[in-house]
Amino acid sequence: MLFLLAALLFLAVAIAILIKFATTDGDFTLISKGPPNKKEIEGKVVWITGASRGIGEILAGQYVNLGAKVILSARNVSELERVKTELVATCPPSRVEVLPLDLASGEESLKEAVEKAESLFSGSGVDCMIHNAAFERPKRKALEETEEALQATFNINVLGTINLTRLLAPYMLKRGRGHFVVMSSAAGKCPAPGQAIYSASKHALNGYFHTLRSELCQKGIKVTVVCPGPIQTVKLSGAGSSGQSDSTEKRVPSERCAELTIVAASHGLKEAWISYQPVLLVMYLIQYMPTIGYWFMDKIGANRLDAAAKKSNTYSWKLFFGEKKKTT
Ligand SMILES: NC(=O)c1ccc[n+]([C@@H]2O[C@H](COP(=O)([O-])OP(=O)(O)OC[C@H]3O[C@@H](n4cnc5c(N)ncnc54)[C@H](OP(=O)(O)O)[C@@H]3O)[C@@H](O)[C@H]2O)c1
Ligand SMILES: *[C@@H]1O[C@H](CO)[C@@H](O)[C@H](O)[C@H]1NC(C)=O
Ligand SMILES: *[C@@H]1O[C@H](CO)[C@@H](O)[C@H](O)[C@H]1NC(C)=O
Repeated sequence: MLFLLAALLFLAVAIAILIKFATTDGDFTLISKGPPNKKEIEGKVVWITGASRGIGEILAGQYVNLGAKVILSARNVSELERVKTELVATCPPSRVEVLPLDLASGEESLKEAVEKAESLFSGSGVDCMIHNAAFERPKRKALEETEEALQATFNINVLGTINLTRLLAPYMLKRGRGHFVVMSSAAGKCPAPGQAIYSASKHALNGYFHTLRSELCQKGIKVTVVCPGPIQTVKLSGAGSSGQSDSTEKRVPSERCAELTIVAASHGLKEAWISYQPVLLVMYLIQYMPTIGYWFMDKIGANRLDAAAKKSNTYSWKLFFGEKKKTT
């Protein structure tokens, strides 16, 4: 009798965990953290690249609301000014600065940007650097990628981002504290059929920043690598640069992605995954059962290329079994 009760209890817990896993939008550690840790945010200077739209813009708004001071960077000055204007409608104008920056423009201008960022807010220095900018990511077969896309992706996502880090880190080390938050991707953990170069660039970031933390964590430098799956950043009407093409793709809203990113950063997590299923399951498989995970992705690969070509759902369970011909 007692045994039966224990078995039932075990079953109930297992089912509850399964349901939670099926409906969650982040990895278990991240989801267990609760709200952002405000102590780590209030009054801090947060520098965000790619703040002119998408996740970066939303992140800036949430950081400001939580009491941070933000520096908005991207190339498009008029878009940055628009974001600033919208932000200062809800907070003191003294908490938002615009700092135009092209990550592909080479060391000299990155150096100038770092000096400028350090001098803002009466020289209080950058507490947290959010590497969020990235080159566009259209879906293309690996062998059809162009040299230009390869160069641009690596210049912006990898070389520019690493260069900026190398220029900023010495200031943080002098202060004995600093935090790098890196917007990587599920494509930085798993194969991403149709996005080989993008995936390669994000894997590079994961390697660099986890290594950087291992070298500098005892000197007060924190690193949080955030790996989102599909995120809803554009109002859907045709594919944007971010390749969001199909309205049946179930994507985590960018507001939630930004919120979970801030939770991960403010609780000092080393890595965080943000996604609905099935991408989250694939991430767990690749991390903990790679043989099964890669087998699964090999089943999906070619089907996903077809789905991308037909602009249909590239995150569907159906890809595993082969796309049914769409009747349009
Ligand atoms: N959206 C998703 O589904 C998704 C999923 C996983 C990971 N992510 C990652 O999350 C981050 C944000 O994604 P998103 O979809 O919000 O991006 P997005 O809408 O494509 O915006 C990219 C941002 O980067 C800036 N940028 C582009 N090239 C730049 C350069 N050379 N120098 C400086 N800034 C540059 C853009 O501003 P300007 O054009 O004004 O420079 C823009 O603000 C990216 O790292 C992306 O890889 C996104
Ligand atoms: C910046 O954004 C505005 C408005 O979205 C657009 O009209 C303009 O062409 C962009 N500028 C550059 C340099 O891309
Ligand atoms: C990165 O820095 C190196 C020098 O350290 C420079 O040669 C290269 O052009 C820079 N690349 C980018 C994209 O900033």
